Amino acid sequence: MTTAPTLAATREELAGLLAHRRAAGARVGFVPTMGALHAGHASLMREAANHADLVVVSIFVNPMQFGPTEDLERYPRTLDADLGLCSDNGVPLVFAPAVEEVYPDGFSHDGIRERVTVQPGTLATILDGESRPGHFDGVLTVVAKLFGLVQPDVAVFGQKDYQQLALIRAMVRDLCQPVEIIGAETMREPDGLAMSSRNRYLDPAQRAAATVLNRALRAAQEQAAYGVEQARSAAMSELSSEPSLDLDYLALTGTDLGKAPENGEGRILVAARFGSTRLIDNMSITFATPAGTARAGSTTTERSS
Ligand code: PAF
Repeated sequence: MTTAPTLAATREELAGLLAHRRAAGARVGFVPTMGALHAGHASLMREAANHADLVVVSIFVNPMQFGPTEDLERYPRTLDADLGLCSDNGVPLVFAPAVEEVYPDGFSHDGIRERVTVQPGTLATILDGESRPGHFDGVLTVVAKLFGLVQPDVAVFGQKDYQQLALIRAMVRDLCQPVEIIGAETMREPDGLAMSSRNRYLDPAQRAAATVLNRALRAAQEQAAYGVEQARSAAMSELSSEPSLDLDYLALTGTDLGKAPENGEGRILVAARFGSTRLIDNMSITFATPAGTARAGSTTTERSS
């Protein structure tokens, strides 16, 4: 039998519910989300439970991480279903605050510079940060606020948002936040599409087309033994086979999102639009450069103009 999680909507309720568990020495695990929960989120909850005595999930559609022309208004809000998924996964406590609880002095994109916010540094100016200026300022600011409110011992984030995970690790390190960060594997649909709350925007044709992202990343993985350029062109050839895809970027990098190594572990990342829905995905990739073909390489990023 599953028990419905206790719902905290205010800072005070959350603090009250956590206080006695902390006093009893419970290790608190935290999964921050924007709701519209799916099996990918469930795997983050299970991962958190492996590292903590008590798992807290937050559900908060953070306005600060959406650009003025992005999908904040239409972002799915499905609290009842989300609580059901938390319940099914044994989560005892959900924090679902209103915007004014997190931003008590109000929120507007124009006014945000009047507040104290987290500046994510240069890693936030590439890839998704280049396509979505200010996005990572919003992500890190809300994650820092949520860490302050929940005070977790450990927090779990998905590797699907690889750049977000890298930036959260950097924030925790650079701001000396006492929380352990765990990156959990990306969960995929049977046809390989990475699970995402935004997949529900796709119509059937777009949903079918979106599987090209997974095929492109896997094609690159298969060719990576012949060098970075071979891997890149294998991915590009798959991506260009799907006429409805509007490529934002394809990037082959090191694990730190810097320059891809000639040999060794790296990352391949892609972002593309299907209609008005922007999806991202990434995978680990192991590069090997056959003798005599070394390149003068830099970070290999392909962008549509
Ligand atoms: O990955 C997300 O869902 C969001 O970016 C996060 C980390 C919950 C911050 O709003």
